[in-house]
Amino acid sequence: MSDIEAMQARLVGEISAAADPDALEALRVAALGKAGTITALLKTLGGMTPEERQAQGPQIHGLREAVTAAIAARKDRLDAAVLEAKLASERLDMTLPADAAPQGSIHPVSQVMDELAEIFADMGFAVATGPEIEDDWRNFTALNIPETHPARAMHDTFYFPDQDEEGRAMLLRTHTSPVQIRTMMAQEPPIRIIAPGRVYRSDSDATHTPMFHQIEGLVIDRGIHMGHLKWTLETFLKAYFERDDIVLRLRPSYFPFTEPSAEVDVGYKQEKGRRIVGGHGDTEGHAWMELLGSGMVNARVIANCGLDPNEWQGFAFGVGVDRLAMLKYGMDDLRAFFDGDLRWLAHYGFNALSVPTLSGGISA
Ligand code: DAH
Repeated sequence: MSDIEAMQARLVGEISAAADPDALEALRVAALGKAGTITALLKTLGGMTPEERQAQGPQIHGLREAVTAAIAARKDRLDAAVLEAKLASERLDMTLPADAAPQGSIHPVSQVMDELAEIFADMGFAVATGPEIEDDWRNFTALNIPETHPARAMHDTFYFPDQDEEGRAMLLRTHTSPVQIRTMMAQEPPIRIIAPGRVYRSDSDATHTPMFHQIEGLVIDRGIHMGHLKWTLETFLKAYFERDDIVLRLRPSYFPFTEPSAEVDVGYKQEKGRRIVGGHGDTEGHAWMELLGSGMVNARVIANCGLDPNEWQGFAFGVGVDRLAMLKYGMDDLRAFFDGDLRWLAHYGFNALSVPTLSGGISA
């Protein structure tokens, strides 16, 4: 047996006897590392005559390959053994109860959005979404708010310094209404959607924050009229406030994207400094409070989305989610919603494990 054959036999023997990954690594470094024995042999090739190299080269390279293969094979065995030992020693009893109460809670805004999605799903509405960074065509123009319209100035819009590739001004959406445009352009009627989400306006006091939440509703079908709108809003508000004595008053109003438009007031009474929704606003101890904007989708808006307004009609509405949350759960300062104060969150937050369902009582 040549020296090289003897060396190979010895190394392969040692490798297959290596007891653990560390021992194997030590053998690898000793043979194939920078100062390893095989590395040293490979270096001698450079100083040989062509004849010597022809004789010894294949032997030395063969040695390196055999040792490399033996190390890889041993490594697989040892890794498998390590895994088996781990699986045998580490056990988790999945039937044990969790040892800590869940940390954190669901923010009232998330809770209310879940409640609304549940209520509207029961009426056949899907949830649609759109981006918070919008272009001025979808946020304004397509909604029949042209450049010169005073409503643009009224919206206190946050604009971005740059335009998009089509030269449209970019902005933080000032309402969820652009989701109406996105939905009508993306899908065929009949359409029944709600679109909850964040909206932005440059405004800040106890009842206004620069970011707040709205939910948009849109129905497009044949033969839709204001009666459908009123029934939908009544049914939604009864389910949301969990009482049957919700009385609505539809007051003529103006929105560029609806014609006719109606502002919807709800009857309430003042109790211990809190507004309790319910009852007829014109009866003793009651009053009306403005709750949401709505109307029949303007034929121009329908046409802007490529639909024929003679065939398709619909209604839309928009309502503040934060406002709905305050009315139902009794908070009085909107700014606290976004302060991230843990005491406020612990007090007004909801259990992460109790998801709102109609069958279980929407806010139980
Ligand atoms: N986009 C309006 C706003 O933010 C709210 C609104 C009013 C939405 C009437 C509608 C609607 O869909 O029909 O003030």
